[in-house]
Amino acid sequence: DWTPASFIEERTAALREKVGDRHVILGLSGGVDSSVAAALLHRAIGDQLHCIFVNNGLLRKGEWEQVQKTFRDHFHMDLHAVDATDRFLEVLDEVVDPEEKRVLIGNTFIDVFESQTDEIAEELGHRPTFLAQGTLYPDVIESVSFKGPSATIKTHHNVGGLPEELNFELIEPFRELFKDEVREIGRLLDVPEDIVGRHPFPGPGLAIRILGDVTRERLDLLREADAIFIDELREKDLYDEVWQAFAVLLPVQSVGVMGDERTYENVIAVRAVTSVDGMTADWAHLPHDFLGHVANRIVNEVPGINRAVYDITSKPPATIEWE
Ligand code: XMP
Repeated sequence: DWTPASFIEERTAALREKVGDRHVILGLSGGVDSSVAAALLHRAIGDQLHCIFVNNGLLRKGEWEQVQKTFRDHFHMDLHAVDATDRFLEVLDEVVDPEEKRVLIGNTFIDVFESQTDEIAEELGHRPTFLAQGTLYPDVIESVSFKGPSATIKTHHNVGGLPEELNFELIEPFRELFKDEVREIGRLLDVPEDIVGRHPFPGPGLAIRILGDVTRERLDLLREADAIFIDELREKDLYDEVWQAFAVLLPVQSVGVMGDERTYENVIAVRAVTSVDGMTADWAHLPHDFLGHVANRIVNEVPGINRAVYDITSKPPATIEWE
């Protein structure tokens, strides 16, 4: 019978056999799939695993530090953390089209990943043989036989999307598994709950949650607002009730009043949805008191924001993300 524990035992042995004394690289995003893949491979082959974690400047608040803490300090992995924020923000300068953002972010990621791989190869004296990815069964199905609405409407660029020209042999230990199974495996492998239980997060990150031009200032605003919403969801035990929850920055200005002063500032849209697979979704019927409290906190604590709205459209006709 399949159990997470038996899977770990079998796969660990199989991975040791397959890899032998060769080396594996893995792109870590901080999401569930790549994190659990890293934990499993590390258990199997230890220092023959080399993880690359790229800061694209589009991560959520605290993520850059948290991922490093988990994988370097807690798991003691060979983690190559590259802060490529400047490069990504330069590439994105004045880009407003959502698909253009995705393509540019995807291509820049590949470049950064490649040069990091070259550095690892130099340290080892040879190129690593394998590339490990946290590909799940639904990803396999979707790419082989079925293009869901979001795959055709938005090109998905994420950490898994590395080109074949890189010429690695692929290791995909979760190809037959669903996300919930991978979560259970992650828990047994001691991956912290705030990583294992995480909502999905898009590869292009906060860039597609800022409508229009992506700037440092806007990213900072959005990070603060998003962190307030997520903290409140966790605090009130609502985080696990929704499929995804986040804030979106709308760079339009509206009039407000603060004390005796007139304000003319930006809007934050708060979005939470329930879903089974992300293909369709309903807006989450969060308690009104809760939403009011979140709106208050965002407007009071995030300078530059004087209004918060809640997105009450479902998918279809809207999509989960705003871009
Ligand atoms: P949409 O917005 O199409 O999103 O309803 C469906 C799910 O996919 C995620 N998403 C992405 N994930 N790269 C990704 O890795 C992308 O470009 C991308 N666009 C959307 C979205 O967060 C949701 O979970």
